[in-house]
Amino acid sequence: MRLFFKLFALGSIAAALLALHMSEPTFNIESLKGARVLVTGASTGIGEQIAYHLAKAGAQIVITARRSNVLEQVVQKCMAMGAQKAAYIPADMSVASDPEKVVKFAEEHLGGLDYLVLNHIGPSPFAMWDGDAEHTRWLMQVNFLSYLQMAWKAIPTLEQSKGSIIVVSSLLGKMCTPFVGPYTATKFALNGFFGTMQHELAMKKSNVTVSICILGLIDTDSAMEKVRGYTNMTAYPASEAAWQIIKAGVTRQPEAFYPWYTYYTSLIKDWFPSYRNMVIQALYNYEP
Ligand SMILES: NC(=O)c1ccc[n+]([C@@H]2O[C@H](COP(=O)([O-])OP(=O)(O)OC[C@H]3O[C@@H](n4cnc5c(N)ncnc54)[C@H](OP(=O)(O)O)[C@@H]3O)[C@@H](O)[C@H]2O)c1
Ligand SMILES: *[C@@H]1O[C@H](CO)[C@@H](O)[C@H](O)[C@H]1NC(C)=O
Ligand SMILES: *[C@@H]1O[C@H](CO)[C@@H](O)[C@H](O)[C@H]1NC(C)=O
Repeated sequence: MRLFFKLFALGSIAAALLALHMSEPTFNIESLKGARVLVTGASTGIGEQIAYHLAKAGAQIVITARRSNVLEQVVQKCMAMGAQKAAYIPADMSVASDPEKVVKFAEEHLGGLDYLVLNHIGPSPFAMWDGDAEHTRWLMQVNFLSYLQMAWKAIPTLEQSKGSIIVVSSLLGKMCTPFVGPYTATKFALNGFFGTMQHELAMKKSNVTVSICILGLIDTDSAMEKVRGYTNMTAYPASEAAWQIIKAGVTRQPEAFYPWYTYYTSLIKDWFPSYRNMVIQALYNYEP
């Protein structure tokens, strides 16, 4: 009987949340015409898809990543798709001076900035922790510290334009799973830091908002290559993830979730911790 009531209560809450979820703000792609946007990690994966959505909307885009030749191809596609402007700047976010250099270039090239989309990640092994602190230190600079450096550098310009910072994070910034120690640490750090920044900007009555995007498994080449053999979890399309990330920024949602299960997982993850851990461990093979 008690179990029945628990399940009933859970069901009711889930239904109410679903209704809330469906009534999200609508999003006007028109508002992106001419918008000045810097997208990091845009040579491939979700960042590349973000660039294409923006291009189709007629935005002015600067993209960055390490590989010039690939960035150049993305820029050409963006121009063909209708971008008002598209340019790239190669940069390595593990180099301490590159994050600020990139923001400066984008601001000069676009004459200001409306959106800063922080999306890049450095490659990290999908494996049990092997004690490599040096890799973790490097990844912290690439996935975390460079985000702070770019955000801080861009804020004065974003104040003028009433702009937004969009941070691409993960369910692994809220919940722990195996094989991703250094990566999950950088994502927890991002959620913590930018959560604080949201408070501080609001308290300062800043014009700038921060949107944190919580993603589940997305079908980019790099992610698929890593999890192959380890899990049979469904991967969702990168193009749709990119669309949801843009929507989160334009509608100024403090936190956005894609796909749907990331929202419910974030919400209920601490209700039954031992059950949760059992389910998580069953989702992964120890040996691929
Ligand atoms: N895919 C998923 O399942 C998933 C799930 C949850 C969250 N996310 C988040 O979504 C975002 C995009 O993920 P993704 O799967 O699209 O990644 P991805 O395909 O691996 O792309 C990573 C991007 O970052 C660039 N990059 C790598 N190292 C860099 C460095 N040192 N300096 C500058 N740029 C660097 C890469 O280009 P170069 O190699 O040319 O530098 C590439 O453009 C990430 O923040 C990720 O955490 C993804
Ligand atoms: C917000 O924008 C207005 C211009 O629209 C500017 O006057 C004001 O100083 C900005 N706020 C901050 C905190 O910079
Ligand atoms: C995934 O599916 C394959 C084939 O159905 C199975 O052999 C494997 O054990 C599954 N892996 C996990 C982690 O569930």
